[in-house]
Amino acid sequence: KIKACLFDLDGVIVDTAKYHFLAWKKLADELGISFSEENNELLKGVSRMQSLEIILNLGKKTLTDDEKLRFADKKNQVYLDQIYRMKADELLPGAKEFIEEIKQSGIKVALGSASKNAPLILQQLEIEDMFDAIVDGNEVTEAKPDPEVFLKGASALQVEPQNCVVFEDAIAGVEAAKNAGMVCIGIGDPATLSQADHVIPGFEGFRLSNLINLFEDDNE
Ligand code: BG6
Ligand code: MG
Repeated sequence: KIKACLFDLDGVIVDTAKYHFLAWKKLADELGISFSEENNELLKGVSRMQSLEIILNLGKKTLTDDEKLRFADKKNQVYLDQIYRMKADELLPGAKEFIEEIKQSGIKVALGSASKNAPLILQQLEIEDMFDAIVDGNEVTEAKPDPEVFLKGASALQVEPQNCVVFEDAIAGVEAAKNAGMVCIGIGDPATLSQADHVIPGFEGFRLSNLINLFEDDNE
């Protein structure tokens, strides 16, 4: 039985994934490292510092700890320039409607994001009050695929992991949900998110009845 739904933020509720990519791309260019959209899949759901490590590994570059902090901060400044300009219309189609519908039916909802910028993004989108619990990059110590972010969300909602459904667009995020013992619905490409229990293209036209149908199919 579904008692709670946990939502990733970047790439699930809002299309900030493109801003993360553009900001990292700019930084990679500066460092002389080639960085493709395919490489970017590895960064989704991953913390800021770990993302930098992945890029440095791709380019076989090393930096001092001070330089790393400086570059990560620089990336975040480029990213924030976009976020400050973001408006509520950048919510991904159907996401808010779906969350409101499931809340009405008594299902609890939480945010489970790796981003330290999550509070600002929720504010820009005018959805700070939509979640029953918020767990973001400011509260977690272990990055996805560690299940910490989703386990903290479930515990804040007082729901057992087996009664939780996670919505994720990142490979690391799907793994985190499965590591938490939760059902995971991937948002995006089924080939990329092959570890998810089901994959949907997005929330447009997706209703609670569709979610319930996915589970009924499983029991056939
Ligand atoms: C995740 C994104 O949600 O948050 C990653 O998918 C990002 O791309 C991570 O690196 C950390 O975000 P921030 O906003 O703290 O740099
Ligand atoms: Mg994401």
